[in-house]
Amino acid sequence: LGVEPSHDDCVSVQHVCTIVSFRSANLVAATLGAILNRLRDNKGTPRLRTTVGVDGSLYKMHPQCFFSVFFLVTEHGDFLALDLGGTNFRVLLVKIRSGKKRTVEMHNKIYSIPLEIMQGTGDELFDHIVSCISDFLDYMGIKGPRMPLGFTFSFPCKQTSLDCGILITWTKGFKATDCVGHDVATLLRDAVKRREEFDLDVVAVVNDTVGTMMTCAYEEPTCEIGLIVGTGSNACYMEEMKNVEMVEGNQGQMCINMEWGAFGDNGCLDDIRTDFDKVVDEYSLNSGKQRFEKMISGMYLGEIVRNILIDFTKKGFLFRGQISEPLKTRGIFETKFLSQIESDRLALLQVRAILQQLGLNSTCDDSILVKTVCGVVSKRAAQLCGAGMAAVVEKIRENRGLDHLNVTVGVDGTLYKLHPHFSRIMHQTVKELSPKCTVSFLLSEDGSGKGAALITAVGVRLRGDPTN
Ligand code: GLC
Repeated sequence: LGVEPSHDDCVSVQHVCTIVSFRSANLVAATLGAILNRLRDNKGTPRLRTTVGVDGSLYKMHPQCFFSVFFLVTEHGDFLALDLGGTNFRVLLVKIRSGKKRTVEMHNKIYSIPLEIMQGTGDELFDHIVSCISDFLDYMGIKGPRMPLGFTFSFPCKQTSLDCGILITWTKGFKATDCVGHDVATLLRDAVKRREEFDLDVVAVVNDTVGTMMTCAYEEPTCEIGLIVGTGSNACYMEEMKNVEMVEGNQGQMCINMEWGAFGDNGCLDDIRTDFDKVVDEYSLNSGKQRFEKMISGMYLGEIVRNILIDFTKKGFLFRGQISEPLKTRGIFETKFLSQIESDRLALLQVRAILQQLGLNSTCDDSILVKTVCGVVSKRAAQLCGAGMAAVVEKIRENRGLDHLNVTVGVDGTLYKLHPHFSRIMHQTVKELSPKCTVSFLLSEDGSGKGAALITAVGVRLRGDPTN
């Protein structure tokens, strides 16, 4: 255009473009929403099913979330959501209200999944899930009408349509039999049929990273990446269709669930994997798999720390050289203990008290060393995660041929949210490794619940189901 912008100019220009197109999308959607509401009122039906014929270059070609914003603003209704694969299993009721003020109201209940069910048969797992849904419907007093449901299923799936996800492999602590190679939506529907008590309309199978990105994009249109750092770790991002070889067509964008936890499974991380990583991997349920995840996420960091402590004790640096029973116990170091031990506000005596709680009798020197080990392990995790994110934003920037990219990452996960230093170190790493990108991080407000419901809402309407 004949101007020579500085880097800051580019950032500002991009921002202005985004705001102007976001406002445009919102205005169009709001006007259309008013027309639709009027049509519905005129007909006197509680829910209107209709189709809008659309054309126009802006609508068709705009790269960012114009389209999704446009859809979401007009969504309305009550949806169920399931969240399986994080710290807790939850059932949620999400009420989306459009109109002048958009609101999303959520009610949820947490249920435990006992280890024998996580690692039992597929039927047992899905029967348990359905019994939790049944309890939730009673608890909320909504058992009766067939409700649309979004299933946040946070495991690697082959997805050929919105309502079908074929489990490729279990990750994290799950190992239920007869599920790999099957569509989890069908497994859920079958379990609902077996119970013969209520019906469900399974509309969408969603990965937690995608739910997180969608939730944040609802508020912030520059959000084109979703990141989870919790029990497991993974990311998704918006890719140009022309680069998606598996799907035909070159127009627009598609969300790619990267399953980055599996990075390194081909050996490419071997140079930086330590003996401690190898031991943790060996004793895990999925040895040789999810190698990147095992260096980063909450489910494994405590185990890395425990193995280092065992090694130091053997060498006589810790616990007077005595390996106690608790230290031999797998899984004693939950992420929440790492977060507590590393908190700056904690005096050494308190660190000692935490170790005591775990059955580890420590001297003051032991406590200092344990705290240092925790710090090193979580710092490495945060830096690796930051390196992964830097690679993603750089790829997006290069794909689009930009000198500078301005992008927002929607984030969720217990490690990111609760650890005292993880997020700061990760942000710093991204900044250092991708100087040509300005990356903002937005905490998602329950992406797995809200995101699944938003996607379900769009899914229901796109499907044009006459019963809805
Ligand atoms: C594991 C799963 C992945 C999920 C991530 C975070 O890596 O394979 O699908 O997104 O955990 O929950």
